Amino acid sequence: TNRLKIATIPGDGIGREVVPEGMRVLEAAGRRFNIAFQFDEVDWSCERYKKLGSMMPADGLEQFRNHDAVFLGAVGWPEVPDHVSLWGLLIPIRREYQQYANVRPVRLLKGITSPLAGRGPEDIDFYVVRENVEGEYSEVGGRVYRGTEDEVAIQEAVFTRRGTDRILRYAFELARTRPRRHVTSATKSNGIIHSMPFWDERFAAIKAEYPDIATSQYHIDILTAHFVQHPDWFDVVVGSNLFGDILSDLGPAVAGSIGIAPSGNINPERTFPSMFEPVHGSAPDIAGKGIANPIGQIWSAAMMLEHLGHSDAAARIIEAIETVIADPASRTRDMGGRANTAECGRAIAEVVAG
Ligand code: NAD
Ligand code: IPM
Ligand code: MN
Repeated sequence: TNRLKIATIPGDGIGREVVPEGMRVLEAAGRRFNIAFQFDEVDWSCERYKKLGSMMPADGLEQFRNHDAVFLGAVGWPEVPDHVSLWGLLIPIRREYQQYANVRPVRLLKGITSPLAGRGPEDIDFYVVRENVEGEYSEVGGRVYRGTEDEVAIQEAVFTRRGTDRILRYAFELARTRPRRHVTSATKSNGIIHSMPFWDERFAAIKAEYPDIATSQYHIDILTAHFVQHPDWFDVVVGSNLFGDILSDLGPAVAGSIGIAPSGNINPERTFPSMFEPVHGSAPDIAGKGIANPIGQIWSAAMMLEHLGHSDAAARIIEAIETVIADPASRTRDMGGRANTAECGRAIAEVVAG
């Protein structure tokens, strides 16, 4: 039996509703594939912040340094400003654990209808690879000069050569594992954004290391249009932190629902645990009702197993998701069904268990 030590952070809002479904499916996969999970759950959240004044303990990240992975729901709740909750929990994990590759698959699963007319699973199957620790998400110079009619907010973007090269290489390596072997760079190279010519320069340099991989590059504005009109053009799309963030909500929307989109915050060197979480947030508008779609969390669990070397268990979970959503009665409301969160999660766990 393999043992996996997983740090579990349900967090806020629907995070607390979908994480238990992810764990349920992991347990089912564990029974079938001989994996014993040790889930170490913590209450790090906005609620903790309101009680104790911090999102997590000062030594929080020390506690999980030797875990196999972190399994997170969502962070953020209206009563706590987002910059407090996110800089207090989500962003420190990504940075401290050097999870610089945010890998977000966009796949139209069998049984789901895309909002794009006439598109099937063969048309929408790509990855957004998002730089996850620098770029536009920088602490450097974030300030607002107040007190006059001429108030100014200033924020600096940071693109290091090391940080840019490693995310580009990650994208090219991922493309090598895929039949189409194609990388698209999301950019804005007309120099209006000063960091982007640098990104393009590094893209050209790294591309030269991968003569077997075909490439394209598009300005971010037209790229969003191509996601909608030509999703079949894409295989691996690499972008900076902010561009990648935007593309990774747009991608899942064309693949059916933000509620199913998974992500892996990957530390490729495996010096630190990687973190797996859905792309969506805490959804305050539907939290507490038991109607959230658990599939983003469950698919993230599959990505976690894949990362930890259990490809067979991961594949079984994806198949189970496809089996269950083929039946409209098992779908949650965002996908046009009537099932609640637990019904959908249980149905998937049952198929995994076989
Ligand atoms: P959101 O993803 O929470 O919600 C956007 C919309 O999608 C809402 O209408 C919501 O009901 C719907 N939705 C999201 N997930 C769903 C699911 N599983 N099933 C059904 N419907 C779903 O984004 P938001 O409203 O911009 O942000 C809400 C809070 O979450 C904010 O505090 C934000 O900062 C935070 N957030 C956290 C993360 C994260 O933890 N990684 C990601 C995004 C947003
Ligand atoms: C995501 C989220 C986060 C991000 C927010 C909540 C900081 O939108 O994981 O995509 O922008 O990275
Ligand atoms: Mn986002």
